[in-house]
Amino acid sequence: MLHPRVEVYDNADALFRAASEKIAAMLEAALRERGTASFVLTGGNTPKPFYELLAATPYHERLDWSHIQFFWGDERCVPPDSPESNYGVAWKALISKLPVASENVHRISGEMDDAEKAALQYEAEIRRIIPDSSPPSFDVVLLGMGEDGHTASLFPGTHWNEERWVVANQATGRLTANRVTMTPRLLNAARNVFFLISGAAKAKALACVLEDPASDYPAKRIQPPSGNLTWMVDKEAASLLKKQ
Ligand code: 6PG
Repeated sequence: MLHPRVEVYDNADALFRAASEKIAAMLEAALRERGTASFVLTGGNTPKPFYELLAATPYHERLDWSHIQFFWGDERCVPPDSPESNYGVAWKALISKLPVASENVHRISGEMDDAEKAALQYEAEIRRIIPDSSPPSFDVVLLGMGEDGHTASLFPGTHWNEERWVVANQATGRLTANRVTMTPRLLNAARNVFFLISGAAKAKALACVLEDPASDYPAKRIQPPSGNLTWMVDKEAASLLKKQ
């Protein structure tokens, strides 16, 4: 991995506009090189404005969306029509507005009672869709981070089988408990990983992850050895960083 890039934007709007352009360009490059692109989406509230920008002009017209494979880095164990569903949020804000081939939308089956079975099923789907090196290298992985330094559904104090690509896990604190999540092993195989971090509430965790060698937040586990890692943050989230 090249050193992680940290890009600080004046405000959330500038952050999401820059992220739309960067990620669209990455997807376009993948489409040019391989005729297809794999895009791993994140959940939470932060990405909604970004998804809406990506679904609108000029990106709506600019990209060949029918050749993009959509995945999710994690999912809450809820039905797809639940307001809690990461799939549901991205479907409403982005995918439903684009000429996406339905067979290219690979959601995690959050509605299954058995989260471990859902995790194994998702891992098998990933193997089927991207039968390249093990684990596959997604073209673009989008991630957020909680105030506790979690990313995807990799929460502090939880443990997962590091050999697996997708596992069941438990959220801690006030968030929806049962989860299915990609693991660092799979996320770190990506070609390009982007964190989108906005707001003062994330400032402490961001400073710990980026500048405290002693911190062991799960977000810090995301260090793609041969891919690019870019932290795209707004000034509020970056307010406690020593180096800006
Ligand atoms: C989820 C997400 C999670 C999210 C962080 C930040 O399922 O909640 O995948 O990892 O990115 O919790 O969420 P906000 O963007 O809402 O702060």
